[in-house]
Amino acid sequence: MAGALKVGFSSYSAPEKGVLIVFCGPDLKLGPATRTMLAPVRDLLGRAAAADGFKGKSGTSLDLIAPGGLKLSRLVVIGMGADEQSKTEDMVKCGGAAFGRAPASATDVAIMAERPDGPMSADEAADLALGAVLRSYSFDRYKTKKEDADDKPKQRRLTIGTAAADKARKAYASREAIADGVLMARDLVNEPANVLYPEEFARRANALRKVGVEVQIFDKKALTKLQMNALLGVGQGSIRESRVVIMRWNGGKKGDKPLAFIGKGVCFDTGGISIKPAAGMEDMKGDMAGAACVVGLMHTLAARKAKANVVGAIGLVENMPDGNAQRPGDIVTSMSGQTIEIINTDAEGRLVLADVLWYVGKTYKPAFMIDLATLTGAIIVSLGHEYAGLFSNDDKLAERLVEAGKLSGERVWRMPLGPEYDKQIDSKFADMKNTGGRMGGAITAAQFLQRFVEKTPWAHLDIAGTGMGSPQSDINKSWGSGFGVRLLDRLVSDSYEK
Ligand code: BES
Ligand code: MN
Ligand code: ZN
Repeated sequence: MAGALKVGFSSYSAPEKGVLIVFCGPDLKLGPATRTMLAPVRDLLGRAAAADGFKGKSGTSLDLIAPGGLKLSRLVVIGMGADEQSKTEDMVKCGGAAFGRAPASATDVAIMAERPDGPMSADEAADLALGAVLRSYSFDRYKTKKEDADDKPKQRRLTIGTAAADKARKAYASREAIADGVLMARDLVNEPANVLYPEEFARRANALRKVGVEVQIFDKKALTKLQMNALLGVGQGSIRESRVVIMRWNGGKKGDKPLAFIGKGVCFDTGGISIKPAAGMEDMKGDMAGAACVVGLMHTLAARKAKANVVGAIGLVENMPDGNAQRPGDIVTSMSGQTIEIINTDAEGRLVLADVLWYVGKTYKPAFMIDLATLTGAIIVSLGHEYAGLFSNDDKLAERLVEAGKLSGERVWRMPLGPEYDKQIDSKFADMKNTGGRMGGAITAAQFLQRFVEKTPWAHLDIAGTGMGSPQSDINKSWGSGFGVRLLDRLVSDSYEK
């Protein structure tokens, strides 16, 4: 699937057309295969490098347009520092950065998976391809004007030159599943809320049946029967009905406890009666990035046939002001039986998650629950756009998440929880209230969620700063980042599959 970039692997050889991208070390040192390939332009390359002051330093590159002696439209030589590490993150990033040096109009791009000191492994070659595919994504389905569409080829082709094409192709299979999951999540986040409302979101999640995921959709009637009143209260001001979707992938041993992932899916968050200011409100179409990640992750796990039992659950609502909308001061009885006084209708994500967490905990008795939510502006104040906030009642799970974050490059930073914060969410009239004031806003939100988890090992990822509008990187040029798919896929493959 993976969008408009088709990936192939071949042995090292100079392509007959298009853009060729190679790596070089300090003083223009080339790997043996690359050196052979570039023999016809050796002189030219030397002179161009001298003329341009290019020495092969990391982070610099040299372009030769239509170099005589080769049939290429362009040769790009990228400097690779001697100390360039071979960690997963680096080769994925490296692939994204390399692909980004090809002009957007180039239909055929080849990257040589060779370091100045020898061939890259099959895994590294596959990582380069993953990085390029993530980089190549753009959400332009609503751009109809020619100026934007003219230069861009409909279908682009990437060839990775490698010493082990068959092995690299095999290694790429799991990466392709990852790329597809990330791009699926990005599409969902970028899609506007007039198109992607709860029912439509549920329909898209339902398409996971194609890869063998069992999908169950609860409509308003079913949710009422389950007494998910905290979730339903958020959606009651919208003409779009709320939905909860349960996705199951059973790739593990029969009877093994499932891993559970829960996503906040507020398809649009106006704030409700506690309405948000107009400036920037359009970004709240992305308030379902948690749910998007869960859907993308379920796709990835199923597509690569992960050896684990997994439950994905998403709460889908639209938070609107309306004659029938929830009011500040309203008290709702959540599915757990605990009552919640609504102080601010804009603190809606925790209300949605409260019921879905409770339902998943009781129904599946999972090995762990991890929820993802664009939950608070406060986490952006705390961590900016670089790290997601991590809150957990379980040190082992938290450690594994931090480690998976380092390895995938989707980093998380652990934040505190503790009974000291409970007093901020005590209510005069109910068991708790839905906001804890300005101080420690991301923490009191997490503390609220914890009341719907009981003893299950649990982690909450506040992705308000990383799921959308995060700074563009070598592997992401899109507003919706798909954050969390690679992180959680890594967690599952490193710690929960035999
Ligand atoms: N969806 C927002 C949080 C958010 C803000 C996500 C900015 C991404 C970017 C959430 O529902 C919200 O409105 N939170 C409030 C909570 C407050 C009312 C206690 C917030 O953070 O201001
Ligand atoms: Mn809100
Ligand atoms: Zn929200």
